[in-house]
Amino acid sequence: MPDYNATSVATFDKNAARYADKYFALRDYDACYALITTELQGRPARFLDLACGPGNVAAYVRAQCPAAQILCVDRSAQMLEQARQRVPEVELLQADCRDLSAVPGRFDAAAFCFGLSYFDDADAALVLAALQRLLRPGAPLLLATVATVAGDPALSGEQQTAAGDKVYSFYREQDQIVALMAAAGFELMQASRIASPANASVASTDVVVLARRR
Ligand SMILES: C[S@@+](CC[C@H](N)C(=O)[O-])C[C@H]1O[C@@H](n2cnc3c(N)ncnc32)[C@H](O)[C@@H]1O
Repeated sequence: MPDYNATSVATFDKNAARYADKYFALRDYDACYALITTELQGRPARFLDLACGPGNVAAYVRAQCPAAQILCVDRSAQMLEQARQRVPEVELLQADCRDLSAVPGRFDAAAFCFGLSYFDDADAALVLAALQRLLRPGAPLLLATVATVAGDPALSGEQQTAAGDKVYSFYREQDQIVALMAAAGFELMQASRIASPANASVASTDVVVLARRR
């Protein structure tokens, strides 16, 4: 069976520079990223930015916690190249976040921002289980994802961009996200809904969750 996620990643790969130009410098999510840096308290912690894209979260963590050791993971080589150019002193690894067996050691904190919506429920469970294995007990996880898209709240599955590129998306409400995380061994700390940035290609409502690995 073809891998629907490979199609989405090919689209991200092709459009990596454009994505980075549009979203890397946005300050809209700084308050969300601060949830994780507050937890780190400037310690020389190991931090994982999963589905890092151009390194939006990693750049914030690098600036706020210079002592952190940061690993950025993405399946798209071009997104990792954007992260390499934009975020100083981070390690980069090309990997599919459904199988993180190549990632060594344990982490003190992680972010998985705007990656969950590219996975169906079975694969989302694999990603969250992989994160659970990589985090130390008690470690915080920041997860942000799209809940609903303006125009069609039920829109999920194959979508086509204006340029004809395909992406497979799976949108979830807060309760579904928290349930998936709980099943993977994460305890909710706080959750909120926010509007997408003004320059987003499609307006959406997003959910931001801070949870702790049990
Ligand atoms: C919307 S971007 C989010 C990037 C960044 N975290 C942010 O908040 O802006 C989604 C990212 O998920 C990555 N991605 C999608 N499927 C993946 C997979 N199976 N494994 C690793 N990364 C994946 C894409 O390549 C893309 O960089």
